[in-house]
Amino acid sequence: MVQLADRIKSLPPYLFAEIDRKKAQLKSKGVDIISLAIGDPDLRTPDNIIRELQTAAEYVNNHHYPDYNGMYEFRQAVSNWYDTRFGVKLDPETEVVSLIGSKEGIAHVPMAFVNPGDIVLSPDPAYPVYATATLFAGGETHLMPLKKENGYLIDFKAIPKDILQKARMMFLNYPNNPPAAVADDDFFNELVRVAKEYDILVCHDAAYTEVTYDGYVAKSFLQYEGAKDVGIEFHSLSKTYCMTGWRIGFAVGNKDAIAGLGKVKSNIDSGIFQAVQIAGIEALAGDQSSVSEMREIFRARRDVLYDGLVRAGIKVEKPKATFYLWAQVPKGHTSESFVEHLLLNAGVVVTPGNGFGAYGDGFFRMTFTLDKERIEEAIERIIKIRNW
Ligand SMILES: Cc1ncc(COP(=O)(O)O)c(C=O)c1O
Repeated sequence: MVQLADRIKSLPPYLFAEIDRKKAQLKSKGVDIISLAIGDPDLRTPDNIIRELQTAAEYVNNHHYPDYNGMYEFRQAVSNWYDTRFGVKLDPETEVVSLIGSKEGIAHVPMAFVNPGDIVLSPDPAYPVYATATLFAGGETHLMPLKKENGYLIDFKAIPKDILQKARMMFLNYPNNPPAAVADDDFFNELVRVAKEYDILVCHDAAYTEVTYDGYVAKSFLQYEGAKDVGIEFHSLSKTYCMTGWRIGFAVGNKDAIAGLGKVKSNIDSGIFQAVQIAGIEALAGDQSSVSEMREIFRARRDVLYDGLVRAGIKVEKPKATFYLWAQVPKGHTSESFVEHLLLNAGVVVTPGNGFGAYGDGFFRMTFTLDKERIEEAIERIIKIRNW
C-alpha cells in the first residue's frame, strides 16, 4: 500500500477542487466558461526573445548540463538590470543565483535556513507556496494578516514579540498577489529595521515590480539601506516578459543567503537550459519596448474590468500593479458561495479569497489576463445576475 508522507498529508485541502469539478461539469454541457482566475499572461513572449532561443538551441554547447548557479553572462545581465532599473549594485559572482522560475527558489529557500520547528512569518492572504515550502522544510508558519484597513501592508507591531524573537525567516511580496497592494518607503524601512532587530532573513518576492500602471514605479526591497544585510529578493522573467512557461527567474541579495539557496539547488536541480538563459539575457538587456506595451494592454483591460465591477455594484479597488483585482463579496455571501454563484449562473470563474488564506475570506480575486472582449462579456453576464 502506498503511504503518503506526513508532510503531504498535512497539506491544506485543495480549495479549488469543488470549483474545478463544477467547472468541468458545466463545460461538458457546452457552457461557454470565461475564466478570470488565471494568473498567467495570455500575451506572446516578445519576438526578440523567441529568436534568441531559436538561435541558441542550435548550438551543441547549449545542450549539456548548465552551470548550477546560472551562466555568468545571465547573472551579469541580472546585475546590470538591477543597476539600471533600481540603482542596486549586485556582484554577479556571489549575489545572484538563477532559478527555474521564482517559484522554484521560493519553494527551496526554507530548506537552507529553517530547522524543524523554526518559525517562518508569512502573509495571509498570500501566494500559497510560502506556507507549503515552510511545511516541507519542517518549519511552522506564523501568519501575518493583510488587512484592508492597513492597505494590505503587514502590521509589524501586531506580531507578538516572542514570535519575532523565534522567527528565522519572513516571506512577503509587494506589489502583491492576491490583494494587488503596493508598499511605500516607510514600510520597507520598517521591514529592514525589524529584520535587523530580530535577526530574521527577509525573502521578498518581487515578481510583479514591472507590472505597474498609472505612472506608479515599484521599488526593489534592496534599494533600502541595510536590506542586503538582512535579505534576498526573488524575481522572475515570467510576468515582465510574458515568459511563464519558460521557467526562468533569479534570487539576488545577501551573499550568504544566496550561497545557502545555491547549495540546496545544486543537490536538487541542474539549472536552466542554457538556450533559455541566453534568451533571458536578451529579455533583460535587449529592447524593453514590449514591457511598456504589456503594461498598456493590461491597464486597458484593468479599466474595463474595474469599471464593469463598479457598475455591477461590487466593492473593488483599482490596483496600481499586478494583473489582479481584489474585490469584496456582496453582503450575504461567503467567498465560496459567491464564487459558486458566478460560476453556475454566469459561467464566470473567479478565485475565492480564502483560497489564499483565512484572512482572504469575504473577498474574491479576478485576473485580467484575457482580452477586453471576453472581459466585457464576463461583465455583461455578471450584471445580468446582479440580484445576488
Ligand atoms: C506572488 C508570486 N510569486 C511568485 C510566482 C511564481 O512565478 P514564477 O515561478 O513563474 O517566476 C507567482 C506566480 O503566479 C506569484 O503570483
